[in-house]
Parts: sequence; structure tokens; C-alpha cells
Amino acid sequence: MKRYGILTSGGDCQSLNAALRGTAKALFRLGTDVEIIGFRNGFRGLIHREYEIMRPENFSGLLTRGGTILGTSRTPFKQIRDPEEDGLDKVRAMKDTYRELGLECLIVLGGNGSQKTSNLLAQEGLRVIAVPKTIDNDLWGSDITFGFHSAVEVATNAIDCIHTTAASHGRVFIVELMGHKVGWLTLYAGLAGGADVILLPEIPYDIDSIVKAIRAREAQRKHFTIIAMAEGAISKEMAALSKKEQKELRKKMKKKYPSPAYGIGAAIEEKTGQEVRVTVPGHMQRGGHPTAYDRVIATRLGSEAAAMALRGEFGRMAAITGGKFVSVPLGDVAGKLKTVDPESEIIREARAVGISFGNEP
Ligand code: F6P
Repeated sequence: MKRYGILTSGGDCQSLNAALRGTAKALFRLGTDVEIIGFRNGFRGLIHREYEIMRPENFSGLLTRGGTILGTSRTPFKQIRDPEEDGLDKVRAMKDTYRELGLECLIVLGGNGSQKTSNLLAQEGLRVIAVPKTIDNDLWGSDITFGFHSAVEVATNAIDCIHTTAASHGRVFIVELMGHKVGWLTLYAGLAGGADVILLPEIPYDIDSIVKAIRAREAQRKHFTIIAMAEGAISKEMAALSKKEQKELRKKMKKKYPSPAYGIGAAIEEKTGQEVRVTVPGHMQRGGHPTAYDRVIATRLGSEAAAMALRGEFGRMAAITGGKFVSVPLGDVAGKLKTVDPESEIIREARAVGISFGNEP
């Protein structure tokens, strides 16, 4: 019998269950005498030996269901070497669980932080296979991650809803979207929702440039403006600061405003005298059912991960590059962010249709 461990780690997303299902179905069908151990709540389950032996029927009916049947949690990579309160060495505990259960390999469905831990476990001698999950789409090595497409759909719907009310009242609206340190989700939802201004962490904004874009619309008798703003967007003044200073400023702003969009909103109100409203869809972006596209790629990536496990292709991540399903070394993925290139075609095309990125002179 061969035992495969599987877990979902980090923030959840809409097609995690579809990816679990794809992996498990392919393992059960293509392998012989397979047993799947599902760890509860991400790496926490591996650390504390909380797991279940999964049967094929456990993976039925999951394709359309959001969330993760295994549960998930964040086990910050930065603190992975710090012992737990009771002195437990987390890395050692994970290795012990893996060895005691006699796992053939461990399959990790996770995003950026989680795959750093996967890579560390691989360096520590465990056989690990990664599957790229995240609504942020920031995992290096895969053009697209499952979860992203569904989150874009939710975020776009939020902008669509704001559009009608913004137009009725002639207000400036800021829709603050997730994405952590990158702007993929905001860029795609902003384009799909017809935002007038898109603010991304990769393109530091100038508040005067945003004001100029709002005034230009006013001059065209368009009395409302929709700003799609990434939660990680930063001003050009902030971008000029050191990382430490940025961190301190963020802390200060957090005390003053519920979220970054409110700070920009206040500045716009002060400069234009126009009414500004802020909408933060928040975790709705990770909720609900996966889109058809996400169901397809999650199933395919899961199936590829199973094939990799059966071939003994360890220490790698199933990925999509240039439209092809491939695998990339975990060592190349870990610790690298896939960011939006400010000079890329998509940005150029968006600018060409009149979208402001808040940095035009
Ligand atoms: O990484 C996914 C993500 O949703 C980010 O976009 C966001 O910054 C973060 O997780 C929110 O984390 P939490 O669910 O822990 O509040």
C-alpha cells in the first residue's frame, strides 16, 4: 500500500475542493493500493497529527463547493523555526508525522507562504509536491493559480454593483480589493468592471494624478468615478521610504483608518470637495462557488499532481506556463513573487482605453 498525504494551507479559495477532488480521483484511479491521508487545517494538522484516512467517497460532490473540506490555517513561514508555546519544534514534528505515517509523499495545495514551507520540507528530505492555489495569482512559476478567476468574478460583480449607485449619485467610489502585495486581482477586476482608475502596488500612485483623472471625467460631464484599488497599493511618497519606514507608516495608518482605501478617500475628498465612498468586498472574494474555468484548471492541476506523485516527480510544483501543464522545481518557486509588470502589454492596453493608473503626469 502507498500512502499519500494531502493538505490545504493558507487563505482558502473557491476551487480548493475541486483540486482536492482532482488529485484524489486521479490517485485512486491510476495508482494501485492507494491510501490518502487528509491533514486537518493545513500544516497544523501535520504538526499536531490531526488527520483522517480519506475514502474515495469523501471526494465526491466537491467540484462546485467553495472552501476546503480539510480546513486550512496560516502557519507563517517566518515563524516556522520558532518553537510553539509548549516548546514543540514544528519542523521536527512535521517530519516525525510524515515518517511515522510512512507517507509516499505530501501534496500541498497552497499559495506563496505555504510553498515556502513545502520547499523547506523538501530540503529537509521529505517528498513534496505543490499545487498552486491563491486568489492573488502571485505564485512564481505558474501563469495562473486556481482561485484567481473566481475571485476576479466576485470582485468584478462588486464593481458592477457600485457602478449603478455611483452614477446615480455622482460620487467617487473606491472599491478596495484583495491581492496582498500584488495587483493581479485588481487589474483584472478593474478592467472587467470598467474602473476609471486602477491602483496597484506595482505602480505607486500620485494623489494629484488621481484628482486629475477625476476632474478630466467631470470636464466630460461624467460626474462619477470608480477607482479599483488593490489593498497593497502605495503612494509614490511611500514607495520612496525604506521597508522599515513603510511598515511603521502602515501601522500608523491602520490606527487612523479601517483600511487603506479610506486614507486615499479622505485625501480625494479634501482635494476635490467631492463625496467619496469606500467599499471593501473583503473575504467575499474568496467565497462562494468556483467559476467553470477554475473548476477546470483545479481539476487538471490536481490530476497532474497525482500523476507526478505516481511518477515519483518530487520537490516540484504542478504549474501552467504558456498554456501548457508542466512542473517546475519548488526551489525556483519558493520566496519569489509574480508581480504585474508596469510596462506589460495589459497595462499599455488599459491606458490606451483611458484607464488611469494614478501615475500619469
Ligand atoms: O492570500 C489571499 C488573501 O486573501 C490576500 O488577498 C489577503 O491579503 C489575505 O489573504 C487575507 O488574509 P486573511 O484571510 O488571513 O485575513
